[in-house]
Amino acid sequence: MTIILAHRGSSGTKPENTMEAFIAAEQSGADGIELDVQLTSDGEIVVIHDTTVDRTTNGSGLVKDFTLTSLQKLKANDHFKHFFKKASRIPTLIEVFEWMKDNTCVCNIELKNNIIPYEDLEKKVATLIRKYSYEKRMIISSFNHSSLQKMKEICPTVETAPLYNQLLYKPWEYASTLKASGIHPKLRIMTDDMIKTTMEFGVRVRPYTVNKRKDMKRLFQLNCSAIITDYPEKAVRLKERMK
Ligand code: G3P
Ligand code: MG
Repeated sequence: MTIILAHRGSSGTKPENTMEAFIAAEQSGADGIELDVQLTSDGEIVVIHDTTVDRTTNGSGLVKDFTLTSLQKLKANDHFKHFFKKASRIPTLIEVFEWMKDNTCVCNIELKNNIIPYEDLEKKVATLIRKYSYEKRMIISSFNHSSLQKMKEICPTVETAPLYNQLLYKPWEYASTLKASGIHPKLRIMTDDMIKTTMEFGVRVRPYTVNKRKDMKRLFQLNCSAIITDYPEKAVRLKERMK
């Protein structure tokens, strides 16, 4: 069965990486959420995609230069301001984990440390996962594959998966060098054969970002491990219809 992971929450309909987007994803029947994490200047884990706050908030500057308090004063729905009058806030990973106590969502944490190498991001995330005993509900992904290896050393029970956007030769072999149980490739580089063979080797395949109905249908038909989509509600409805 293909599981549905909401990319930055239900980011096609709500401001990305906000509690509103995660709640909407869960309410639409998605199996889980994907989110991006970085560190503030005072070492707090925050959920935001870009290294700067410029695109998604009413502020400007690098995430790493804000304290948590100053970051949370920003409006996190600036890219959606025509639709949402109510201000959203950049959440911390703790806030997301607290919300997860009341649901069964899986959480795919993308470590956004491929541009800025945040010190100890892996350790901080692992500590929080252990504190909440969420090991079995987590998938850790990153474009920084060394960071995934580090994560696996710190927290061997947590699932990891490399993100990549260029063709890879025998991705199942590459995954095994990282002790990763899955791969998160860009959708357009994955042929049906590549998906099938990778899964036959016991490696889960979760392509991103799957927004078109025809792509969703193809992946559901292949019984692909998961899809990562901005439109979880649309994916859930289509999956129901295809049963
Ligand atoms: O995890 C899938 C996807 O989020 C990777 O790319 O840039 O949207 O974080 P990006
Ligand atoms: Mg991401």
